[in-house]
Amino acid sequence: MDERKEIARSDFPADFAWGAATAAYQVEGAYRDDGRGQSIWDTFSHTPGKTENGDTGDVAVDHYHRYNEDVALMQELGFNAYRFSISWPRVLPNGRGKVNHKGLDFYERLVESLLEKGIQPYATLYHWDLPQALQDKGGWKERFTPEAFAEYTDVVSRRLGDRVKGWITLNEPYVSAIIGHVEGRHAPGEQNMRAGIRAAHHLLLGHGLALPVLRANSRRADAEFGITLSTTYAEPGNDTQEAYEASVITDGFQNRLFMDPLFKGRYPDSLSKIIDQYLPIESGDMEKIAAPLDFLGINYYFRTLALAVEDISKAKIKTRRVEGAQYTEMDWEVNPEGFYNLLKMVHQDYKPAKILITENGAAFPDVLEEGQGKPVVHDPDRLNYIQEHFGAALKASREGVPIKGYFVWSFLDNFEWAYGFSKRFGIVYVDYPTQRRVVKDSGQWYQRFLRGEG
Ligand code: FCB
Repeated sequence: MDERKEIARSDFPADFAWGAATAAYQVEGAYRDDGRGQSIWDTFSHTPGKTENGDTGDVAVDHYHRYNEDVALMQELGFNAYRFSISWPRVLPNGRGKVNHKGLDFYERLVESLLEKGIQPYATLYHWDLPQALQDKGGWKERFTPEAFAEYTDVVSRRLGDRVKGWITLNEPYVSAIIGHVEGRHAPGEQNMRAGIRAAHHLLLGHGLALPVLRANSRRADAEFGITLSTTYAEPGNDTQEAYEASVITDGFQNRLFMDPLFKGRYPDSLSKIIDQYLPIESGDMEKIAAPLDFLGINYYFRTLALAVEDISKAKIKTRRVEGAQYTEMDWEVNPEGFYNLLKMVHQDYKPAKILITENGAAFPDVLEEGQGKPVVHDPDRLNYIQEHFGAALKASREGVPIKGYFVWSFLDNFEWAYGFSKRFGIVYVDYPTQRRVVKDSGQWYQRFLRGEG
């Protein structure tokens, strides 16, 4: 799928949101500043053996202190939108109760700075950093957490509801629920299917409780509300029945476990044997979860070629690598066709009113070099990845998929969760010892693209 030569900004709808994305714990640092409470990611990253090199988000890329210079760089690159997340424990250090106004002040300064520069704020309320105080009482496994999430949403949206354009309740509940509670590679690090399924339902319920709060508190006439899901395009890795079944389970866990409740008000039949016994559904929950969305946020990175279900109790699937295909540093196959197929599938099966690509991008090893009088980072693989995926989205859009925005992951190199700082996704390089920002070739291409220079 090589359509990149023709690709131009003017091919996309005029009212398209263009920018990049980050998340609070990955970029902010300042983990003890101004009354911030502790999150499950502070606990997890400070536990020996949980992250590569023992890396933590204590300092990250110091965006908390450098947001102004970072927003100025976004303006230089030509963004008209920026997706960031709000740290729950910065706003409510204990998860509930007393509000930390200094924490809210930071987001107000950030939003003001964006608006001054003509960049529309898209705020994610939950990008995995649950206050540790709530985790200590059971976290997402328990029903008080979605209730607490709605309270937190109320606090934030009362303060910022007159200025934030896009509201995203949750980022990738699949990762919180399944990677955090079943696989255990992410905080809180449990390995238990029951815990994962309870978390999945309570995350969705949290979304369902937060949505009407956002709609009530928003005071921007053009505000829009949605949720961001991680996705993969799952295909059988060969023509056996086993591979076919594994692809159905992969698609079930990674896509339909969340899309079916949100758009159809029920959990997918393909998973019923595994999940029904654990789902803590109470009367009225599914109606709340399935309330209409203004947009669906799609994060896409790779497709999955499933071979066999290895261990269902850990949601573990055996997958196949493709001979000769390119893989990113995350070992994710570069496959823009999978993106196109996924977008078509979502449109056909769920018909969201509007789709925003809330994350897409790639990690490759980067080298900071001295160019002619200034530092440069040549990242042809990332540039190629971005161009090909723009092309795939454009193709889907031309065939009627209502895509209305694209946020590249990520604006800056940052703390890549369990991989620490070993994986760089930024279109802007960060020299961690000095915190210096250097726009990579991919970022410079994006700037030219956004200027209409092709
Ligand atoms: C997504 C996350 C984001 C980042 C990218 C690479 O799953 O939402 O924070 O880690 O993957």
